[in-house]
Amino acid sequence: MSGESGGSLLLEEMTISRGAGPVVRNVSLEIRRGEVTALLGPNGAGKSSLVLAVGGVLRAETGRVLLDGKDLCGKRPERIRQAGIAIVPEGRRLLRELTVADNLDVACYALPRGQAKVGREHALEMFPELVKRLDIRAGSMSGGEQQMLVLAQALVSQPRFIFVDELSLGLAPVVVKRLVPTLRTVAESGVGVLLIEQFAPVALGVSNHAYVMDRGRVQFSGMAAELSENPDLLHSSYLLAGAG
Ligand SMILES: Nc1ncnc2c1ncn2[C@@H]1O[C@H](COP(=O)(O)OP(=O)(O)OP(=O)(O)O)[C@@H](O)[C@H]1O
Ligand SMILES: [Mg+2]
Repeated sequence: MSGESGGSLLLEEMTISRGAGPVVRNVSLEIRRGEVTALLGPNGAGKSSLVLAVGGVLRAETGRVLLDGKDLCGKRPERIRQAGIAIVPEGRRLLRELTVADNLDVACYALPRGQAKVGREHALEMFPELVKRLDIRAGSMSGGEQQMLVLAQALVSQPRFIFVDELSLGLAPVVVKRLVPTLRTVAESGVGVLLIEQFAPVALGVSNHAYVMDRGRVQFSGMAAELSENPDLLHSSYLLAGAG
């Protein structure tokens, strides 16, 4: 799909203010279907603010979110979701006392019945590990499995684009190395994935393109491989520190 018209989601010149002033300044980026695009950058760079603005949760001061030639910037969260953009915000929680199946049902709640059934099956295809756990309590699963369920919840609506903000927060590196590549599978099913991830090398390993933000601005945009192969580019924005 990538490269065709309608194959991309374009964020254009987004500026977002929070509290004292702008935290995202004139940021433009492209997310292609069938690919993983990494969005890296130090704490406070503005990554989550950008995600929340695309999701319709935070208001952008200026900018466009272009999908199929339509500008979705400033639309309500339901409208954004219906247009095919799923957001997995930082710190998304499951209903831990409910079963895996119930958590998926909750995510299907707003979907028409036929679509919910197909979407649920589609989500479980991406995460076969969850199939044998449908009847157990979500909170009893490992951290990595719980995050797979969080992703599956976002996929039930069969989005064209998914924004994943720091899925691996608090997980052991070994778990992260297993979880993050599942997003490659999601991309290969035709979805455009935007991946925000503190373990830069792991993120770059599954990504086609990469952006680095710092202090609200895009400081690098290019091929993920270029960043992987030039540690200096990454070192200069501190990203490898402690993440190896
Ligand atoms: N609720 C808020 N109210 C006011 N300012 C905020 C709020 N949340 C974040 N900020 C500020 O916005 C800026 C960007 O924060 P944001 O959370 O978007 O960065 P981030 O790149 O996601 O960082 P991290 O890697 O720590 O998640 C920071 O300066 C932060 O202090
Ligand atoms: Mg963040």
